[in-house]
Amino acid sequence: MTLPYMASIVERRSLAPPHATRKSYHLVLDLKGSGMRYQVGDSVGIYPENNEDEVEEMLKLVPGEDEVVQDRKGHREKWGVFLRKKANLNSINRKLVEVVAERNKSSFLKELLTGSDREAIKTYLTSFHLADFIEEHSIVFTPAELAPLLMPLLPRFYSVASSQEVVGDEVHLLVRDIQYEMRGKKRYGVASYQLCYKLPMGVPLVPVFHQPAHAFALTDDLSAPLIMIGPGTGVAPYRGFMQKRMKLESKGANWLFFGEWFESDHFFYREEWQKLVQENSLKLSTAFSRDQQHKIYVQHRMLEEADELFQWLEKGAYLYVCGDASKMAKDVEDALLEIIKTKGNRSEEAAHLYLKDLRAKKRYQRDVY
Ligand SMILES: Cc1cc2nc3c(=O)[nH]c(=O)nc-3n(C[C@H](O)[C@H](O)[C@H](O)COP(=O)(O)OP(=O)(O)OC[C@H]3O[C@@H](n4cnc5c(N)ncnc54)[C@H](O)[C@@H]3O)c2cc1C
Ligand SMILES: NC(=O)c1ccc[n+]([C@@H]2O[C@H](COP(=O)([O-])OP(=O)(O)OC[C@H]3O[C@@H](n4cnc5c(N)ncnc54)[C@H](OP(=O)(O)O)[C@@H]3O)[C@@H](O)[C@H]2O)c1
Repeated sequence: MTLPYMASIVERRSLAPPHATRKSYHLVLDLKGSGMRYQVGDSVGIYPENNEDEVEEMLKLVPGEDEVVQDRKGHREKWGVFLRKKANLNSINRKLVEVVAERNKSSFLKELLTGSDREAIKTYLTSFHLADFIEEHSIVFTPAELAPLLMPLLPRFYSVASSQEVVGDEVHLLVRDIQYEMRGKKRYGVASYQLCYKLPMGVPLVPVFHQPAHAFALTDDLSAPLIMIGPGTGVAPYRGFMQKRMKLESKGANWLFFGEWFESDHFFYREEWQKLVQENSLKLSTAFSRDQQHKIYVQHRMLEEADELFQWLEKGAYLYVCGDASKMAKDVEDALLEIIKTKGNRSEEAAHLYLKDLRAKKRYQRDVY
């Protein structure tokens, strides 16, 4: 475990109006005294604690708050502390299901576990929070029995949305508020709920550590053009990129592709981007996916501006992609290949080589999650 610094939240503001159904927050953490130095493109890690309602739910099902338990690695902790700080209560794991299948002589669970449908097992494991699974199978555990069967509560990572050249001993974050219903219960993202709502302001209660990016670094070349593609929270690092470039009086051109649901509610940092546009420091292309019947995504805007985008690449632009790994990153790459093929007059194979060459020169970098 990386030793964290206990930071306080000094600013927290919603980036969406109160009526918006999907919310995100801008947070500023005070790092004074931490000695933490980060680069734009890096992330910070945060050790979260479980939501107290969910801990209480578990304590009702498996009482014994002060009982000392051992985790998988033999660490000893009171059951209450273990549930708050160490256990993943959000999903279940195979080992636990095996134990329950055996104890309850459940043919359904046994068949699921021995079957060849890996996707069905994965879906099953992510369709329960721990408390729901214990309830569903009416199984009685003691804390000592259950603790070693649980997965650890892992740190969460957030892209830094600031440059230390500008904000000094602060780190700025853009955090999506995650709320959803599962099995008729309202559930919250563990870390995002704490950061967006629970942690008090001005008190050093956020355990934070620096997570350097391995392959997502702003070029030192101040005259090189940048193409930044970042739908949703993927836009966060580019706020840091632009802060740094403006501070260093970069003359390189900058182009941001940003996408979200609705322009009225989810245009994160609208004023900051528009000020840069007015100053001729930024070209901005937006894709608000739900402002019309059909979906418009960042890659559609890229394709619309294919001529100019290819010219930027030919002029030595550095291209960055940040955000969703599951679909967006692949779709954006497909659009890029399409642009290289059509505007660069290249075959499929040659387009792949063009992109490979960009990657090798660190002119195509991704931070996707
Ligand atoms: C390098 C990196 C950078 C990142 N940068 C950012 C960033 O800048 N901003 C940001 O907000 N996040 C960022 N993330 C994601 C972040 O680390 C967390 O994963 C995110 O905040 C969710 O954590 P959580 O603890 O709030 O939610 P968790 O408690 O982990 O819950 C999330 C889980 O809830 C479940 N879930 C969510 N919605 C539903 C639903 N509708 N139905 C059923 N289940 C659902 C899913 O299983 C999902 O995985 C980044 C991740 C990485 C790896
Ligand atoms: N585990 C978590 O709970 C968690 C939390 C935060 C982030 N993440 C990861 O980070 C990603 C980013 O999430 P986010 O909440 O910032 O935003 P997001 O879900 O990626 O949404 C941002 C914008 O991208 C659009 N979009 C959807 N599919 C796309 C595609 N294939 N290509 C391009 N754009 C697409 C969305 O449109 P529509 O929605 O209208 O289709 C929306 O307008 C998530 O998808 C997830 O993988 C995960």
